[in-house]
Amino acid sequence: QAGMHRVPIPHRIGGYRFRTDITFDELVDVCGEYARVMTVRVEKLICDAPATLRLLPPVTDSDRKEWRLKNDDGRVEWEACYGTWSVVASQRMDYEVTMRPGLFDPADDALAQFYAKTKRCLAYVDPLVWQEYGHHIKAYFEAHNIAARFVPCAAPEENKNLELLAAGAQAIVDFGLDRRHEPVLAIGGGVLMDVVSLLSSLYKRRVPFIRIPTTFLGIVDASIGVKTGVNFGKNKNMLGTYTPPKAVYIDTAFLRTVPALHIRNGLCEIMKMALMRDNELFALLEDFGERLIETRFGHYTGGVGATMPAAELSQVWEAGQEVIRRAIHTMLEELSYNLTEQNLYRCVDFGHIWGPTVELSSSPPLPHGFAVNMDMAYCAYLSYTKGTMSWEEAQRVWDCMDRLGLPRKHPYFIDPARMHPTLMKMQKTQAGMHRVPIPHRIGGYRFRTDITFDELVDVCGEYARVMTVRVEKLICDAPATLRLLPPVTDSDRKEWRLKNDDGRVEWEACYGTWSVVASQRMDYEVTMRPGLFDPADDALAQFYAKTKRCLAYVDPLVWQEYGHHIKAYFEAHNIAARFVPCAAPEENKNLELLAAGAQAIVDFGL
Ligand SMILES: NC(=O)c1ccc[n+]([C@@H]2O[C@H](COP(=O)([O-])OP(=O)(O)OC[C@H]3O[C@@H](n4cnc5c(N)ncnc54)[C@H](O)[C@@H]3O)[C@@H](O)[C@H]2O)c1
Repeated sequence: QAGMHRVPIPHRIGGYRFRTDITFDELVDVCGEYARVMTVRVEKLICDAPATLRLLPPVTDSDRKEWRLKNDDGRVEWEACYGTWSVVASQRMDYEVTMRPGLFDPADDALAQFYAKTKRCLAYVDPLVWQEYGHHIKAYFEAHNIAARFVPCAAPEENKNLELLAAGAQAIVDFGLDRRHEPVLAIGGGVLMDVVSLLSSLYKRRVPFIRIPTTFLGIVDASIGVKTGVNFGKNKNMLGTYTPPKAVYIDTAFLRTVPALHIRNGLCEIMKMALMRDNELFALLEDFGERLIETRFGHYTGGVGATMPAAELSQVWEAGQEVIRRAIHTMLEELSYNLTEQNLYRCVDFGHIWGPTVELSSSPPLPHGFAVNMDMAYCAYLSYTKGTMSWEEAQRVWDCMDRLGLPRKHPYFIDPARMHPTLMKMQKTQAGMHRVPIPHRIGGYRFRTDITFDELVDVCGEYARVMTVRVEKLICDAPATLRLLPPVTDSDRKEWRLKNDDGRVEWEACYGTWSVVASQRMDYEVTMRPGLFDPADDALAQFYAKTKRCLAYVDPLVWQEYGHHIKAYFEAHNIAARFVPCAAPEENKNLELLAAGAQAIVDFGL
C-alpha cells in the first residue's frame, strides 16, 4: 500500500481514526499488556463452527402476516419505511494511445518508465512475434535493467476462450504480480490483446495493462478501444468487459511480417472510417493503398520494396503513418464519447449490418474485413439509388476497393430474402429500430432507419444487373495461416533513426498521442423491501415488464425453502421465469461455475 500502513482504530464506539505509525516496539509493549488483561488462547469455537450453512425451520404464515400487519392497505410502499439507497458514482476511464516508431529502441524509455519502480514486467507475447522480434524486445528490457518474464501465448481465434484465460491467470499468480506497479503487457494480435485485457480486468478485480498490437487489425481497431473478451462456445466475444488499458503503444514496424491478406483485411476497417468521416484518408488510400500493401506500410524491403527507390519507400512509409494516424484519430473520435456503446447511432457500425452474417455464411468464415467491405460496397449503391451519392462517387469507391484487392461481391447482396431478416434481427436487439449508417458522400454519412423489404427487392434487382456478382475466388484461396516474412535488417532499423538526427527522438510529437478521458456511470439502488415476493408487490416485476421473461440463478437451498413463493410471484406477474439452480459453495466459486452460468444465458437467449 504505497509504503505505508493504514490501520483504522476506534477511538470511541462509533468513531475511528487511522494509525499509520505502529511500530514493532509498540506491538511488543501492547501484546505484553494484552496478555495480562486477557486470558489469551486459541478460541476453540472457530474450528468447531459448522463448515456449511443449514436452513432453519420454514417461515410460518404468522411470520408472514406480521410483515403485512405493519401496513394495512394491502398494497404497500415499503421502501418508505425501510429505505432505498441510491448509489451513483462514476468510474474514470482514461488512457493514452501513442504512435511510437522505434518503441523497442533501447534509447527510448516510453515503455520502460512504467516498470521503473519494481524493475519487473510480466509480458504475454505471441510466439510468432517472439520468434521474429523477440531478440529486440528482450534486449530492450535488458537495456533498461527490467527483469521481464515473457509468457508465450499462442492465441488463434479457436483458443480465445476461458481455458486460455485460466492459463494466463496462472502465469500472473506464478509471477506474483505487484498490482500497482507492474502493468501486465500484451504484445500480439487482436485475439491475444482481447484475452489478456479481459484477464487484467478480472484479476484481483482489475490490474493495469498495456497493449502493443502487432497485427494490422490490432493497430487500427482491436487495441484502441476498451472492449475485452473471449468467445464462449460459438458465441464470439460473449464474455467480456469494458475496461480501458493504461496505455497503448503503436509501432508499425511489426507490420513488416504481416501477410498481405491480413493487411487487406484491416484496410477494410480503414476504408470504413474513410467513407464515413474522412475524404482525405480515402484519397490517401487511392494514391498509396497498393504500395502500402506491397511494402507493408513501408517496412518490407523485399518484393516490390526491394526495387522501389529509397526516397519512394520513405514516402510510402510517411503516407502509411498518416493513414494509420487518421484512421485511429477518426475511430477514437467516434469511440471515445461512446466507450460502452450506450448510444446506438454508431457510424463505426458501417459495414457491420449485413457483413457479420455474410462472414459466417461460409465455412471457414470469410475474413471479417472482407465481409464488411462487401456490405460497404452495397451501401454505396443503396446511397446512389436514393440520389445521395453520385454514380461517379460510388464508382470511385468501388474502383479503389478493386485496386486494393478488397472483395466487394457476394450473392447474399442480391438476395433480399436473406438481407431483410438480418435487418429485422438488428431491429429486435436495438430497441425496435434499425440504424444503418450510409455514406451520403465520401467522408460523410447519414443513418437510414426506414429500409423496407420492398426497397431491398428493388435495389437488389438493380444491383445484380450493374455488378457481376459471384463469390470471389481470392477469398477461398488465401492462406489460412500467416507466414512470417524475412527478419528486420539493420538498414531497416537505421532508416528509423535517419528520419531524426539527434539520437533521442520524441516521436509522439510527430505522430500523435491521443488521450482518451471518459467515465463510466455506476449507479444502482439498494432497497430493504420486506414482502419483496408478495404477489401484490411489483418492485422486482417491473424490471421484466417489457419482455415478460426472466433468467434467475437461485441457490438450491433457497429454492427448496422459498421456491414456491418465488415461483408464485413470477406467475402472478405473468413473467416466464427460468430458474437455474446454482449450487455455489466457496469451493465452487470458480471459472467452471462461471462457464456453466454462461451456458444458461446462451440457452435462455438473453
Ligand atoms: N476489442 C476490440 O475492440 C476488437 C476490435 C476488432 C477485433 N477484435 C478481435 O481481434 C481478433 C482478430 O485480431 P487479429 O486480426 O489481430 O488476428 P489474430 O490476433 O488472430 O492474429 C492473427 C495471427 O497473426 C499472427 N501475428 C501477430 N503479429 C504478427 C506479426 N507482426 N507478423 C506476423 N504475424 C503476426 C498471430 O500469431 C496470429 O496467428 C478477433 O478475435 C476480434 O474479435 C477486437
